[in-house]
Amino acid sequence: MTSIEPLAALEARVKTRPLPRHVAIIMDGNGRWAEQRGLPRIAGHREGSEAVRAVTRAARRVGIEALTLYAFSAENWARPYAEVKALMQLLADYLESERGEMMENGVRLNAIGELERLPRNVAERLAQARAETAANRDLVLTLALSYGGRQEIVHAARAAAAAKGAALEAEDLEAALWTHGLPPLDLLVRTSGERRISNFLLWQCAYAELHFSDVLWPDFRDAELFAAVADFQGRQRRFGLTGAQLADGGPGK
Ligand code: IPE
Ligand code: IPE
Ligand code: MG
Repeated sequence: MTSIEPLAALEARVKTRPLPRHVAIIMDGNGRWAEQRGLPRIAGHREGSEAVRAVTRAARRVGIEALTLYAFSAENWARPYAEVKALMQLLADYLESERGEMMENGVRLNAIGELERLPRNVAERLAQARAETAANRDLVLTLALSYGGRQEIVHAARAAAAAKGAALEAEDLEAALWTHGLPPLDLLVRTSGERRISNFLLWQCAYAELHFSDVLWPDFRDAELFAAVADFQGRQRRFGLTGAQLADGGPGK
């Protein structure tokens, strides 16, 4: 018989072990969630905002420093116009309605991606929410909007090459990434049973642990986040070394 651990016990358990400092989530499955219910796809996106709220709160509560959410990819612009338009309106509504909640929870809002492509009402509300939450310190919530990992690397390579030319090193490129200043990515989660990266945080994924959940994003809540963290806590991160080296205290041992 399998027993289901109560949520409070799972939360207490993940808090006793080293937490991932930076968790990123590919929030996938909104469309399928809606289609399963005979609803328009946008109903799934709307319900997805509830998951964002719940997961942000839960991440802050257990002490995760940085949460990065893939909300809209550079490739998602090619979806039907009506869906893109509805998603942008939802985003604008979210940015307006969540400011109070972010202030109450000490959440600093951040954004990465080709932000200049966002419609003006979204860009304005984003700038407003970022300015208002700038001094908050409990959790940095980064929304990836019109984001693509390849685009980020190209952008960073151009900036780093302009400064350093052929002498540029990996650290120069890293410092020019949109994610500069965030802790290294520890855990990448994808929902909805898909097992691909879809152009998300390609550089940052180099040594992240990957967790795939079959749950569709609108159904993702605290329990699913904590299950992903518990999975992470059961991994041995070797960064190219052997298990014995790690037990002995590091490289060269
Ligand atoms: C993720 O859900 C949200 C966005 C990509 C904006 P989808 O809309 O991709 O949902 P599925 O994958 O079609 O179910
Ligand atoms: C990735 O999901 C983008 C976001 C979650 C915002 P997609 O649904 O766009 O990815 P693919 O098309 O299944 O790879
Ligand atoms: Mg999808």
